[in-house]
Amino acid sequence: MAKSFKTFLKHTAKDFHNQSVNPPVVRASTIIFKSMKHIRITQKKAQKNPVGGHYDYGRQGTSTTYILQKILTKLEDSYHVFTTPTGFGSVFLAIFSVVRPGDEIIAADPVYSPTRILTQDFLKEFNIKTIFYNPYDLKTLEKSITKKTKLIFVENPGSNTFDFQDLGKIISIAKKYKILTAIDNTWGTPYYLKPIKLGFDMSIVSATKYYSGHSDVMGGSLAVNKKVFQKVKAAEKITGLRLGPDDAYLITRGLRTLDVRLDRHRDNAKKIASFLSKNKKIKLLYPFKKNSLNFRMWKKYYSGASGLMGLKIKSKNINSVRKFVNSLKLFGYGYSWGGFESLVLHQEFRETGNRKFMNLAKDEHLVRFHIGLEDPNDLIADIKQALRHLK
Ligand SMILES: Cc1ncc(COP(=O)(O)O)c(C=O)c1O
Repeated sequence: MAKSFKTFLKHTAKDFHNQSVNPPVVRASTIIFKSMKHIRITQKKAQKNPVGGHYDYGRQGTSTTYILQKILTKLEDSYHVFTTPTGFGSVFLAIFSVVRPGDEIIAADPVYSPTRILTQDFLKEFNIKTIFYNPYDLKTLEKSITKKTKLIFVENPGSNTFDFQDLGKIISIAKKYKILTAIDNTWGTPYYLKPIKLGFDMSIVSATKYYSGHSDVMGGSLAVNKKVFQKVKAAEKITGLRLGPDDAYLITRGLRTLDVRLDRHRDNAKKIASFLSKNKKIKLLYPFKKNSLNFRMWKKYYSGASGLMGLKIKSKNINSVRKFVNSLKLFGYGYSWGGFESLVLHQEFRETGNRKFMNLAKDEHLVRFHIGLEDPNDLIADIKQALRHLK
């Protein structure tokens, strides 16, 4: 029987051996074998089928991590998915796997600020140069390509400014010059966008966000195609960047309801966006206005939108922006996103970093909302009362 992914998520990983709906958490440093001969048999199997879940030591994972990897591989439509202790671990692993001293990276200007620090500053010390391109002008990408360019690193949409790029065009530029590609797909997750199918070599998701969905665990995933698999596998082995079984279990549990939660985040966010779009002081950084470039680029590649959005607020009075943000009662103040609850951040330099192509006037301010799973009418009422302070 053909099963949709929604059905698969509810029925996968049942444990008939223990007669439990969910699989057990298998914690192990030592994996024990009946004899030395059995260790060698397992190692041979692992060599023959490196994605088959054959382990001889706990650092390689246990059946608990393997179950999560199999589910994610299906969701991503990829050759394999590596799981790491944080989302940023997956960003690092993707880059470390394919870039060497002397190489160059071209990265989207609005990448997540730690990704910018890693590429622009840290890797520079290893003689790896990064050039940033304008997400709305891919000529700046193509003209930055040199013989040394090894990797194009995309994040879509851009962190905090939510710039939606022409992903297909980026892939065709990369293919023309035979350059590897990676994308941070945490915003849409493969539930709404499947980058490996689109032609990316690597796709990163911070599992801390929507996969877990409950703001109580950290993790990352790195989906790969066959072309880069061995390189990433070697880097994974040498860095030891692997997710532990307890966190893998929690992320697998979160995934059971990924579709339900994401669809609700999407519906709630649409209602909030519709309310905010009527306010003249606010420009929505969210794929909402049908004739906008952002909407067209989103529509071209995504089957849905998540709950994270930006507000570009025009005001000469920064204190009134702060007052607006601080008057919200149902929005928590804190980093991260993707959990069941609504969150808000007033974005200042610390969050956006030192960007080359961000045009923010002095009287423009960035606020980020994560729209949670609350009743959207309550959220709208809360925003309404807080907006009274915006001057
Ligand atoms: C777009 C994006 N990518 C990666 C990360 C890093 O994920 P983690 O916090 O799980 O390390 C974050 C975290 O906020 C993020 O927003």
